[in-house]
Amino acid sequence: MVVVVLIADFDVTWISRTIREINSTFASELEQGQLVVIHVSQEWYPPLTGLKRNYNDAPDRVTFRSKQNVDYSFLIHYSAGLGKYYLQLEDDVFSAKNFLTTIRKHIEEQNMKKSTWAMLEFSALGYIGKLYKSSSLPLLARFLLLFYQEMPCDWLMTHFRELMTQRETILFKPSLFQHMGTFSSFQGTYNKLKDKDFEQGVYTNPSAEVYSNISTYQKNLPKLAWEAGEGFFWGRSPGRGDHLTVVFQEPTVVTGILVETGSGGKDLLDSGQVELGQEVLTKEKQSCKKFQSLGAFINGKFEMQGIDKLHNSASSCLRILVTAGQKDWVIVQKIRITTKQSAS
Ligand SMILES: *[C@@H]1O[C@H](CO)[C@@H](O)[C@H](O)[C@H]1NC(C)=O
Ligand SMILES: *[C@@H]1O[C@H](CO)[C@@H](O)[C@H](O)[C@H]1NC(C)=O
Repeated sequence: MVVVVLIADFDVTWISRTIREINSTFASELEQGQLVVIHVSQEWYPPLTGLKRNYNDAPDRVTFRSKQNVDYSFLIHYSAGLGKYYLQLEDDVFSAKNFLTTIRKHIEEQNMKKSTWAMLEFSALGYIGKLYKSSSLPLLARFLLLFYQEMPCDWLMTHFRELMTQRETILFKPSLFQHMGTFSSFQGTYNKLKDKDFEQGVYTNPSAEVYSNISTYQKNLPKLAWEAGEGFFWGRSPGRGDHLTVVFQEPTVVTGILVETGSGGKDLLDSGQVELGQEVLTKEKQSCKKFQSLGAFINGKFEMQGIDKLHNSASSCLRILVTAGQKDWVIVQKIRITTKQSAS
C-alpha cells in the first residue's frame, strides 16, 4: 500500500512547514516509499477565478470546488501507475482498523461475481472511501480536469461511474471511513457530514457458529448479529431460558463485549444477561458446559470492557440468556467483541 498525499495549498511558507513536519514524523515511511508527498505548482492549474457560476454557487464556492476537481485530477493522474487499485480519501478522515482486509475481501467477492464495477464505495460520504481500478484512472483524471468548473467532484464522480456503465452504486456497510470533525475547509456552505454506518473496526469478532432456539423471523438469522454489516437477528417473542449462543472456533480471551438489541426503541430484549462459557459440549457442539454471567442488559444494551481482568482464561462460548419471557419480538442488532490478540 502506498499513501500519496497531495499538498494542495499554494502558500509557500505553509508548504515548507508542512513538508518539514511530514519529513520528521514519517521519515521511515518516506524512505521505504510507502508515503509519497506531491505538490503541483499553481502555474499548472487552469483558471480558478472568474468561472461559470453553475447552480448559482457563490464565486468563492465555485473556486473552491473547481480547484478541488483539479487537485484530485492531479492526484489521480500521479497515482495511476502505483498499484492495482486506487482509494480516494481526504485528510480529515479516520479509518476502521480492519479497512485493508475488508476492502480486499470485497474486491475478491466482486471479481468472483465477474461484476464489471467501476467504483466501490466504502463510505457514504462525498468523495471519501471510493475505490477505482487503476486502469480507469487516466480516464478519471482527464474527466475531472475536463469538467472541473461544471460541478462538485462528488457529482462528477457519479457521472463517471454511470459513463463507465455501472448503473447502481455499490456501497458496503459498515462504512470504513469517517470524518474526524465538523471543521470545514470551505466555511459556511460545505458541511462535513458524518457517516452513520461507520464502525471503527475495533471489534474483531473471531470465526464462530451462532445458534438460537428463539424462533427466527424470515431470513434474519442469528449469525447476522455476529457478522459485520447491516444484518441482524430477528426472533419471535422469546421465553424465559431461551438463548442465543455464539460458539467460537478457537478458545478466545474476550476483553470487551457490546450487544445492542432493538430498533427505533422497539423489539428490545427487556430481561436478559450476557454470559461467557467454557468447554464446548462434545456431542452437539452448539453450546458450552459451564457459563458465568457478566451482567444484565440495560435498556436493551449490554456493554463491558476489561473483561479479561475478571476472566483471564479463554472462553469458547458467548451466550445471551433470556431471563424473563416477553410478548415483544426481539431484534439483536449486533454482537461485537474484542479479544486479547487483537488488543495488543
Ligand atoms: C528530510 O529529512 C532528511 C533527513 O532526515 C533530509 O536529508 C531531507 O533533505 C529532508 N527532505 C526534505 C524535503 O526536507
Ligand atoms: C431453549 O433452550 C433452553 C435450554 O435448553 C430451554 O430452557 C428453553 O425452553 C428452550 N426454548 C425453546 C423455545 O425451545
